[in-house]
Amino acid sequence: MNPAKVLMCKPEYFEVNYNGNEFMKNNLGGAVIVDKINALKQWNDLKKVYESLGYKIELIQPVKDLVDMVFTANQSLPFIDTNGNKKVMLSRMKNAQRKDEVRYFKDYYSDLNYEVIELPAELKTFESFEGMGDCLIDFERNILFGGYGYRTDEMVYDFIAKYTGLNIVKLKLINPVLYHLDTCFSILNRDTAVICVSDFDNDGIASIKKYFNNIILADETENLRYFVCNCHCPDGKNVIVQRGSSKFKDDIEKSGFNLIEIETGEFMKSGGSVFCMKVMIF
Ligand code: ARG
Repeated sequence: MNPAKVLMCKPEYFEVNYNGNEFMKNNLGGAVIVDKINALKQWNDLKKVYESLGYKIELIQPVKDLVDMVFTANQSLPFIDTNGNKKVMLSRMKNAQRKDEVRYFKDYYSDLNYEVIELPAELKTFESFEGMGDCLIDFERNILFGGYGYRTDEMVYDFIAKYTGLNIVKLKLINPVLYHLDTCFSILNRDTAVICVSDFDNDGIASIKKYFNNIILADETENLRYFVCNCHCPDGKNVIVQRGSSKFKDDIEKSGFNLIEIETGEFMKSGGSVFCMKVMIF
């Protein structure tokens, strides 16, 4: 079953005040100033796009000092089990600055009567898992594509397989600048996916090819500039993406999708764009 609601977090306390990832380091050289008014406008515009496509928006309360909480893709993995029950697997964030976010998501999902699952204690403390930043799910085929290497540890997927019952396709990430799976891979529908090849080894590319007939290859430079692999196609038809690409735009339109371009520049300063700014929930 495809999730029908979109969970977002208003960027009230959003800031770029630490170097969270290689994308930020390479492209921005550290802390940068966020234009708060612009960030709020960009976030609102994204919210309106989802609303215009018929999705109901749910909001989690932002928390002071949790500057990255706006990236709601990362703190959890919501799913429906084989008996139709709503469940959520909580993340264990890699960076100290983000660890506290998770408990607010725990409360949020508990209030919605989700069964909340935490990673088992036997997992070593340094082993981390960053939810839908590294897990992309094909709900029709019950497949979870799981990125590992930077923010999520490979062995976490043993637990995810056990708890979710989903078939797991593990993908090793090898380009530190593209540190989450959602920065280099996007599922548009059953046939089509977008990938940035520089983040996968040959095995990874071969695995992806097994599942999709039409693979759109993102241009490396375009991906860094417009985060095209961080696009989101919630319905198999409309693709929401940062404005500005030309190859990606062409490829998407030639494949029959409707492209919706928006501005996410304030959030890209932090290494995130469309896909990171929401999580689909049930
Ligand atoms: N600054 C955030 C971090 O490094 C950005 C997260 C972006 N999220 C994503 N799903 N790629 O954690």
